[in-house]
Amino acid sequence: MGKFYVTTPIFYVNDKPHIGTAYAVIVADILARWHKIKGEDVFFLTGTDEHGEKIEKSAEKMGKSPKEFVDEIAEKFKSTWKELNIEYDKFIRTTDKDHEYAVAFITDLINKKGDIYKGEYEGWYCVPDETFLTDLELKDGRCPACGREVKKMKEENYFFKLSKYQEKLLSLYSNNSSFVIPDFRLREVENRIKEGLHDLDITRKSVKWGIPFELDKSFTIYVWLDALTNYLSGIGWPNNKDFTELWSNSVHVVGKEINWFHSVIWPAFLMSAGIDPPKQVLVHGWWTIDGKKISKSFGNAIDPVDLVKRYSSDALRYALIKEKRIWDDGDFSEESLKARINGELAADLGNLVYRTLTLVEKFEGELEGTPELDSKLKLNKIVEAMDNFDTYLALSIIWDFIKETNKYVTDREPWKLKEKELGNVLYNLLEAIRIIATLLYPFIPHTSNRIFSQLGISASKLEDCKFTEIHSRPRKGEPLFKKV
Ligand code: MSP
Repeated sequence: MGKFYVTTPIFYVNDKPHIGTAYAVIVADILARWHKIKGEDVFFLTGTDEHGEKIEKSAEKMGKSPKEFVDEIAEKFKSTWKELNIEYDKFIRTTDKDHEYAVAFITDLINKKGDIYKGEYEGWYCVPDETFLTDLELKDGRCPACGREVKKMKEENYFFKLSKYQEKLLSLYSNNSSFVIPDFRLREVENRIKEGLHDLDITRKSVKWGIPFELDKSFTIYVWLDALTNYLSGIGWPNNKDFTELWSNSVHVVGKEINWFHSVIWPAFLMSAGIDPPKQVLVHGWWTIDGKKISKSFGNAIDPVDLVKRYSSDALRYALIKEKRIWDDGDFSEESLKARINGELAADLGNLVYRTLTLVEKFEGELEGTPELDSKLKLNKIVEAMDNFDTYLALSIIWDFIKETNKYVTDREPWKLKEKELGNVLYNLLEAIRIIATLLYPFIPHTSNRIFSQLGISASKLEDCKFTEIHSRPRKGEPLFKKV
């Protein structure tokens, strides 16, 4: 059986999730469910990134201990993912003991390779992002990633010999051109590497809330070496010897501002530790409002739970996927979400199911006939799009089939038909709906399950997406979506 391992970034716990942070989790859930209907053995990992100065400070502000603080926020993440119907297999926290053990273990491997040395760092530091920055990297004297103020820092530090891996990284990309998706993100890191790689600081002296650095206990390990290792500790490394089976089929879903850490720094750490790189890094774009990144610090965060309560998790998942390609940036608009509920979910999909089942309930004959709609189903194109992580394209092709099926109703006017002819049209409609529900399952799982239950069948798999015989007696239920 094929294996599929998908991860999301682990989230900083300085605040509750917003739709920008929820996006990677929704995308990963869709990929996980897609691979499940393909019949593969899937492992889906998400979690929280709980160490570092930022968290220490946030906890202090709230008058709580770091541990009390992170425990509370980690629960908020879990409950939000539940609202969004996210079916992860493990929720990892960087304060988990087995994770801390794995971080110490990988640091030791890197050290044994001779890739860690002590030096001094002098430059700029962005506290919220916990990153050191050079003069050249600053943008108008501020942090290029978050736009906030930076402070001058001079600190003794331990460094990782990142520069040693320049050529090895470039050959990783040239030997595996789909290591980073989309291609333009691969080119971006490649060009930056060609400008030269600096060694990387991997410890912090001033930060107490972190994993101790065994070589020198007056330091803690910098958040990125800690955080990235979650992808291994989450599947039981170093004690689980079977981790390679999942690891060789792994995909990290990450936002564009952390592509560098995943496509450059992470593979370099792994090369140093003698571990293969992950299979792929899928880099998504930003959700914006009026072109501005959605972020708590910009004061434009949108609460996904609020949207779920008002419109349902399926409506939100659908709207986020149908609005833009994964790697593009896109403006989020509630108006567009509502238009999609009314036009696409309620009218195209909801009506198709409702009117078909209304006719089926009144019909007493045999639900059988000859497939007439199967030629309209572009299954190979959908599979190809999903293999390329193009969820937007896949969903669009599925929707074309829904539209074709609606057109079939208008063309054949089943309300005017009788007996065998009606049985034939209804057979085609029911089989089309079953296939549609199967293909939509990764995207809108609640709705698909409701359709399966109205059809009187249990969920089907990708291999069942062909017209066969009907053995159930469908029963109409509530309309799938109400217009808003
Ligand atoms: N803790 C690190 C990741 C460590 S992974 C080993 C981190 N956390 S974060 O909470 O700041 O961000 C998590 C993810 O949220 C990032 O991938 C980031 O791209 C994503 N997003 C935050 N705001 C976003 C939008 N407005 N739109 C889309 N994604 C955005 O970085």
